[in-house]
Amino acid sequence: MKRLLIITITAILLVLIYTNFSKTDNFLDSNNQNEDNPNNIDSSDKYNYFNFSNEEKDFIEKNNIDLDNLVNYYHYKSFDLYKYFEYEEARKENISYLEAINIVNNPTYYSNYEDKESAIFLNSSVVLINKHYYIEKSYKPNNLVALKDYKINYIIRDDEIMQASLVALEHLEEMFNDALKENLNLYVFSAYRNYQKQEYLYYVVNKQNDDYSARPGHSEHHSGFAFDISTLDIGLTVDFANSKEYNWLINNCYRYGFILRYPKDKENVTLYKFEPWHFRYVGKTIALNIYENNLTLEEYILKNYEL
Ligand code: DAL
Ligand code: ZN
Repeated sequence: MKRLLIITITAILLVLIYTNFSKTDNFLDSNNQNEDNPNNIDSSDKYNYFNFSNEEKDFIEKNNIDLDNLVNYYHYKSFDLYKYFEYEEARKENISYLEAINIVNNPTYYSNYEDKESAIFLNSSVVLINKHYYIEKSYKPNNLVALKDYKINYIIRDDEIMQASLVALEHLEEMFNDALKENLNLYVFSAYRNYQKQEYLYYVVNKQNDDYSARPGHSEHHSGFAFDISTLDIGLTVDFANSKEYNWLINNCYRYGFILRYPKDKENVTLYKFEPWHFRYVGKTIALNIYENNLTLEEYILKNYEL
């Protein structure tokens, strides 16, 4: 009786082990048979997978292009086979396939007011506005709200109702409240600015100083997502970088979805001098990524979106 019990239990165990193994096998099999992965296709069939035209096949053969490498580019919509060697050259800088495609396909991405293009990701908190990307004179964000309705200190001017994007303000309020708990009393000096206001600042106040001031249409203050922040006594000067308030902000702003937009060591990327006071709302996920990888918004977009 006891022997029968042992035999039965052993049999059940064997069946269980076998079923489990076959599941693993099936799982591996189905992965291996993934038709979307040309690395699993016989080399003779790879051309069919890519669906190349005869002209493209000629180009690939003549230039001895490695199909296994090509597959890393091929699924990007903006990939252009005839720029393959330019992409490969760009990748020598140790950048991703996507970034190589973006850089080669958008040679004016970092240009200084040349071949200007309309802002990308307009109306979203990741909108890119800089010396290359602009917004229209008549553009007005559709989610503007007044700072007076939030627990936020700001500079009150007679001729101005200071406004900013709703989502950015909600996060700014939280950031300012937490700063205050550490006895850091922050003020907003400037938030949303329309075209006319930027025109006045650029031409009259800043005397066309391109190092610190954006030309009208090229300021991200126009998007409602940017804030100039400092203490009352320091104001908008580089001295703010030596304050404990600044130190707290640069180490914590990402938690609320903000980035320092024009950092000191990135002047060749942003094309602006260091502005310790200018913070930009981009949302928490992107702010964290930018903070952890020491990026600018320009670099983040180039690495993460197909342009
Ligand atoms: N100071 C920044 C660049 C602006 O004018 O928007
Ligand atoms: Zn600013």
